[in-house]
Amino acid sequence: MFFALIAIRTEHALNRSDSSVCLLRMQSDTSSVSSLTLPAGYPRIRVVTTLDELLGTPLANGVNALCWPRALSGDFSEVVTALCNSKEGIGEGISPLDDARLRTLPVGDAGRVAINCMLEDLRLLRDHGRAPELNCIRAYPREDEPGVVPIDVYSFHADSAPVETDTWLCTYHGASSEGLRNDEARRRVDDPETRAELRKLYGGEDGEGFHEFLTENCYDLHYAPALNAQPFPFGIGNLWRIATDWPGSPVPPCIHRAPENLPGQPPRLLLIS
Ligand SMILES: [Fe+2]
Repeated sequence: MFFALIAIRTEHALNRSDSSVCLLRMQSDTSSVSSLTLPAGYPRIRVVTTLDELLGTPLANGVNALCWPRALSGDFSEVVTALCNSKEGIGEGISPLDDARLRTLPVGDAGRVAINCMLEDLRLLRDHGRAPELNCIRAYPREDEPGVVPIDVYSFHADSAPVETDTWLCTYHGASSEGLRNDEARRRVDDPETRAELRKLYGGEDGEGFHEFLTENCYDLHYAPALNAQPFPFGIGNLWRIATDWPGSPVPPCIHRAPENLPGQPPRLLLIS
């Protein structure tokens, strides 16, 4: 489905500005620490402390992203290594992981803890009527030749749906998804030069047909960061619920993108729903 395709396009880990807020949270049964760097004084993100709060807090009243910071136990790196060394292996793009493959993966105790953690997240989301996917990602599809507006997931974008929905994301391993404040973003189709180029491509006037053209090609979902924008990382282990672009949404969508998987970097482990 269209919105599922767009939802797959996600997220870049990044620099923190001196003005950012760093939250630390210790988990009671482990010495690991989750760090989360959020933009300071930015009211659109709300931090929650339980799954129930993550599920029950409306994406409304200006809030378009909820984050549950978590310090997860287990060795996720071991899981990735075992996946890569397995007979099935990990492809060059996106490898969906099913529960059975994870359960039978030969790993030690710390790897097993990591696997159980991911399986538990999948179970919890399914129990709440969602259809989460766990993927091992080396790279997303990339446009062969960049057009007037980039439309792959490495570009800042909003997920879109014809009905009310949201996107859930958690990076367990590798570079994390990256967010962009709405006040540091501008829709690429609202830039006069870009819009003129798109109108040339469309071959008509700026009217209803042109708007449909922008929507059909997802051009209207992609954003350019402001000159001094400070994108922020979603971090590792943190579970996010972010607003999509759907008709009637009371808040603007949460803008995000997928990180570049640079040569030599390990594949990512990402939950998306
Ligand atoms: Fe996305």
